[in-house]
Amino acid sequence: MHIVIAGGSGFLGGALARTLAAEGHQISILTRQRPGSMPAQPRTSLVAWTPDGSTGPWASVVDGATAVINLAGESIAAKRWSPAQKNKLRDSRLQATRSLTSAFRQAARPPAAFISGSAVGYYGNRGDETLTEVSPPGKDFLAGLAQEWEATAAEVATLTRVALVRTGIVLDRRGGALPKMLPPFQMFVGGPLGPGTQYMPWIHKEDWVRLVSWMITAEGARGPLNATGPSPVTNAEFSKALGAALKRPSLLRAPAFALRLALGEMADALLLSGQRALPVRATDLGFSFRYSNIDEALASVLA
Ligand SMILES: NC(=O)c1ccc[n+]([C@@H]2O[C@H](COP(=O)([O-])OP(=O)(O)OC[C@H]3O[C@@H](n4cnc5c(N)ncnc54)[C@H](OP(=O)(O)O)[C@@H]3O)[C@@H](O)[C@H]2O)c1
Repeated sequence: MHIVIAGGSGFLGGALARTLAAEGHQISILTRQRPGSMPAQPRTSLVAWTPDGSTGPWASVVDGATAVINLAGESIAAKRWSPAQKNKLRDSRLQATRSLTSAFRQAARPPAAFISGSAVGYYGNRGDETLTEVSPPGKDFLAGLAQEWEATAAEVATLTRVALVRTGIVLDRRGGALPKMLPPFQMFVGGPLGPGTQYMPWIHKEDWVRLVSWMITAEGARGPLNATGPSPVTNAEFSKALGAALKRPSLLRAPAFALRLALGEMADALLLSGQRALPVRATDLGFSFRYSNIDEALASVLA
């Protein structure tokens, strides 16, 4: 198979590219970086693009590909959310997606699948409500962004099968949210964030890669699919499991007001809100997860 990955240089796209290449598939990574800025990988080519909503010479790489996977966008947690940074988070995702959908429209042979990023932020802050792919969206900034991102990708649903990956908290030692959570625990001051009752829809990185790889050929995988493990836990349960995995206490609660003081709106959106999201679509279609127990997942990730 020939798989095109926009954002294939990132934490999730990189892991997906390495796995698919190791399985013998041909990978093209769409990147804004200079050629030579990333180490060469077997069966992987870097294709320079400008994700500004338009197409360019790069667009020919999409023609006849098996699937295009869209993970490009400014990192959500990299900087405090000023109005300018929020615009960047939004525009980077929408413009990259528009560039890809334009390439689909130009292609003589449009790829059979467009697997486009989204996030559990789609649901907003939902307490202990059980959320499936048919649950209505939330109302905050991330919920609005996820809705626009999904709607932009879905514009090519008449040309190809569009699957929208509502990714949860991907657990890995070297990337994503987990490395940022470790230092307080390692310094014996770890514990729940705010009330600790907010749900964390975690997924082991290996399962995320397996799930998205499966979507490439799973004909039934269309529309939104929660890329979250089958057993979300509360933040208090997660903190307890993380403390146990690290053999450290998890007693010191970080007060919500302190998190808001340090991070502003990001504290509520990323740390204090939660989604008890379940992967109903993927499970109904026959996908099975390797990791459904948080203790086993953390032991594997931190081994
Ligand atoms: N990691 C998670 O736990 C998680 C959870 C939920 C949702 N997601 C979503 O899944 C997607 C991939 O996540 P990730 O953790 O792999 O992200 P990442 O490591 O930040 O990678 C994203 C990639 O997007 C490209 N990019 C960065 N800024 C950009 C900009 N301003 N305009 C266009 N492209 C830009 C970069 O590629 P180049 O520099 O090569 O162009 C980068 O490698 C993101 O949209 C993220 O919001 C991730």
